[in-house]
Amino acid sequence: MLILVIAEAELERIPAAIVSHPVIYRYAKQKGKPATKLLLNSSIHHAAMATLPEGRRQGRPDITHLILLTALESILNKQDRLRVYIHTRNDEVITVNPQTRIMRNEERFAGLLEQLFDKGAVPNPTKPLLSLQPQTLPALIQELNSDHVFVCDQLGTPSRLPEYFTSLHHQNKQKITAIVGGFPSGPLKTDISKMVNDTISIYPETLAAWTVVSELLVNYENTTPPASP
Ligand SMILES: C[S@@+](CC[C@H](N)C(=O)[O-])C[C@H]1O[C@@H](n2cnc3c(N)ncnc32)[C@H](O)[C@@H]1O
Repeated sequence: MLILVIAEAELERIPAAIVSHPVIYRYAKQKGKPATKLLLNSSIHHAAMATLPEGRRQGRPDITHLILLTALESILNKQDRLRVYIHTRNDEVITVNPQTRIMRNEERFAGLLEQLFDKGAVPNPTKPLLSLQPQTLPALIQELNSDHVFVCDQLGTPSRLPEYFTSLHHQNKQKITAIVGGFPSGPLKTDISKMVNDTISIYPETLAAWTVVSELLVNYENTTPPASP
């Protein structure tokens, strides 16, 4: 089983600090909802976000959207050998049911997340496809209690994924957690160095998070046979 953790994903509702900015005011009026119930999106709200201390990094639902499309439609997920968790910048964790079909349209995806932030589970609390609860990244890693945890970082130890996963397979590691940042720039802010077995770089340059995810899924699937029943 491969567990994919997207860390510090830039997913949040519009912060109260910018609700009175004209761009946000107009947007909320057009949507007919209070601004604080709407998802922050840098491609729409960039003018208002300039005043946020980390505004250049925030409001990137597109990153999570592309990762979820890549992961949930992967062969590994079809084989029921993948679990996905999204940890957000405000220390919430979204648990993703492997049977979730994510809409391709980004605006509809944003609407789904707004419902999730509002209700804590979608489409309904009894059999949710996505559910959200407060949790820090270290607490999530601890709760997952994997046989092996690694974080992907372009400054990590240069590693080739086919050899890396083959070696874990030979060591009989059954439950592997891979952590990938869900943000557009800069390093992971939480220090998880004591909680991971390895920090690996899969290419000498920075890659998009969804590219790293697709490399992980394909290489794991190609090197690691399903566990025998
Ligand atoms: C777009 S990157 C984050 C920004 C990047 N740290 C920077 O300073 O430009 C998103 C995530 O992809 C992963 N990543 C990007 N390039 C990588 C590489 N060459 N090797 C391993 N992981 C990488 C890391 O997990 C990173 O947090």
